[in-house]
Amino acid sequence: MLKSKVFLVSLVVAVALVASASIAMSAPILIKFSHVVAENTPKGQMANKFKQLIDERLAGKVAVEVFPNSQLFGDDKVLEAMALGDVQLAAPALSKFEKYTPSLQIFDLPFLFDDMAAVEKFQQGPVGQEMLMSMKKKGYIGLGYLHNGMKQISANSPLRVPADAKNKKFRIMTSDVLAAQYEAVGAMPLKKPFSEVFTLLQTKAIDGQENTWSNIYSKKFYEVQPYITETDHGVLDYLVVTSTEFWMGLPDDIRPQVKKALEDAIAFGNDVSAKKAEADRQKIIDSNRSEIIKLTKAERKLWIDAMKPVWSKFAGKIGQEKIDAAVASNN
Ligand code: LMR
Repeated sequence: MLKSKVFLVSLVVAVALVASASIAMSAPILIKFSHVVAENTPKGQMANKFKQLIDERLAGKVAVEVFPNSQLFGDDKVLEAMALGDVQLAAPALSKFEKYTPSLQIFDLPFLFDDMAAVEKFQQGPVGQEMLMSMKKKGYIGLGYLHNGMKQISANSPLRVPADAKNKKFRIMTSDVLAAQYEAVGAMPLKKPFSEVFTLLQTKAIDGQENTWSNIYSKKFYEVQPYITETDHGVLDYLVVTSTEFWMGLPDDIRPQVKKALEDAIAFGNDVSAKKAEADRQKIIDSNRSEIIKLTKAERKLWIDAMKPVWSKFAGKIGQEKIDAAVASNN
């Protein structure tokens, strides 16, 4: 009797030990989030918020590691790394998906969107939502759009009219649309990784670049570029992207929770982007390092007239109906 009791107790203890060991052994699902910007930017803040929300809501089940400042991968490598399972989440600028889908190139068309409200309307509309899935067959899923803001053009000489850009070298993201945009004003575009921009500007290997206020501020481009023309000629937004294999491999009870945390983090990041565009612009003005050139209506029209023919060059690839939908979002 006593013997069987002892046996029963030790059996219970053994089962409990095995169970706790297996819980300890099932490590949380790791999500590595790699990006190229500083932490104090809309994307940097969004990524950190996502980590915080996952820690709060899915502790022990999912863990997030964030790698800012191109520490893990530059945008030229991150999608390949994702396909290999070396990184699970990234948010490259929409301009950097050219190799994978022509449709996202729409966001690079110069002077397409009047403002960020129009961008938001288009992204949340049927065409924008459909485009999230445009790379599914290639193994990538867009989980949402994240804003940074409208782009400005900085240079080492004042740019008021398109002729001022002639023969100057501008760093661009890896986008043929952006290349065509600079060629349209007789400038020389150079596709270079974000991590190299500051040094290229500082050493005067290039004359200028285009970016958002928060990137110009956080990466100190304004310290090595005496002029910034406030063009608002294009948008720099992101696609929060994952691999189809990783996403579909998540347990069914976990995936919706990760998606919700991402949506909440994106909403937070979008809020940051709106505030930063204004605040970082002001910090640049206050620094007195760079003069901000405001264009008159007539000057801005010259840039529009020079750059807008780029639309028709890419309409076949992107789809005229998509361009029409984007234009309609301005109303
Ligand atoms: C750039 O390369 O200029 C941007 O895409 C950087 C970023 O991610 O905002």
